[in-house]
Amino acid sequence: MQALATFKRLVLVVPETLLCGPSYAQFFFWSRNTKVLDATATWEQFTETQSSYLEWFFRHYPPAPIRQLWATLYPKFRDRVKGISTHYDVSNEFYKLFLDQDYLFYTCADFLDEHDRLELAQKYKADFMLNLINPQPGERILDLGCGWGSMLKRIYQQTGDRANLWGYTLSTEQKRFIDETYGFNVKLNDVVTTNYEPESWDKIYSIGCLEHVPKAQLRPLAEKLAKAIKPTGHLVHHFFCQMTPAPPAKLLAGGADVFPGIELATWQQHVNTFEQVGLRVAHHSIHDYRPTIKAWYDRLAAQQARAIELVGVRTYNRYLCYLAEAWRLFNDRDLLLMRFVLTRQDAPAAWQSPLYHSGQGTQSLDSPQPALQTV
Ligand SMILES: C[S@@+](CC[C@H](N)C(=O)[O-])C[C@H]1O[C@@H](n2cnc3c(N)ncnc32)[C@H](O)[C@@H]1O
Repeated sequence: MQALATFKRLVLVVPETLLCGPSYAQFFFWSRNTKVLDATATWEQFTETQSSYLEWFFRHYPPAPIRQLWATLYPKFRDRVKGISTHYDVSNEFYKLFLDQDYLFYTCADFLDEHDRLELAQKYKADFMLNLINPQPGERILDLGCGWGSMLKRIYQQTGDRANLWGYTLSTEQKRFIDETYGFNVKLNDVVTTNYEPESWDKIYSIGCLEHVPKAQLRPLAEKLAKAIKPTGHLVHHFFCQMTPAPPAKLLAGGADVFPGIELATWQQHVNTFEQVGLRVAHHSIHDYRPTIKAWYDRLAAQQARAIELVGVRTYNRYLCYLAEAWRLFNDRDLLLMRFVLTRQDAPAAWQSPLYHSGQGTQSLDSPQPALQTV
């Protein structure tokens, strides 16, 4: 039985390599295993560098125009909304096994030291985001893609204002968790198709949600968001992006299997899109996703038995492969994690980090950040 399953996986390696590349074939050869994967061997397989010829093949085949074609065609055959909810509705108990226990953030943390615990690193990130959002009691604040309510919780801890705090998600499991745990105002709304009332929000932020927005939808959504914030308000946008217009070869399997139909933009496309709709990048920073991904991987591996009980061997294997591959994509600088503050170009005053006023800032206002080059 096992031999037959292995034979079936092997048979697919050649056509998948030719059509979608060796990284894609490798991902499926490992993740389709019906036996539980060894976490150490899986990590090494996906993250260790091979000989330079093999490396080149794994990173650059199929050629960029074919990868671009896959990335354009693939979403046409997948239901975007269903793909998103499928990923986040796997099981709340499963995600709790490897996310930080305080906030359940499913996005990049800020490790100040490699020995920091994930909980501390996510607290640093929450505080960093709090500084960018700068929420005040009485302000209407919207979280696009609110996950398990992580940032809503941090903002509520700061302002104590529940009535003006709102979140959108596509996951019924996430909404159920938030309803039962916090009682925040959360709607099952698609951020792409929602109609936002003009000048109705003081702050809108997205932490790792707009990666799910198809490239063609980014501009119409940015236009709606630019109109939805008050002139004195701002947007905060935490996202990962690809470095080249064509998707990296190692992203193709994830786009087919883990985040169905994901279609990333480059950071230049993000800057251009937001500037073209009347916004200005008032803050930008780059953060290292690798320690967070490694922490999730190690925690998931340590909870192997419970994870399999909750979601089965195939899903457990798939998450090991996807996390290891994701670490590699950031390590190779094929992907980049960025945070923006976006203000309206007609804002009455420039955005300033509240840290400048608290004396905690590392940079004085006399030495502002260099502007991002728009391409
Ligand atoms: C990577 S998770 C991040 C969650 C949370 N912001 C955090 O930091 O942990 C992405 C979130 O975006 C939501 N999402 C993705 N696409 C969406 C869409 N079109 N409309 C509403 N929510 C969406 C998902 O349901 C999920 O909650």
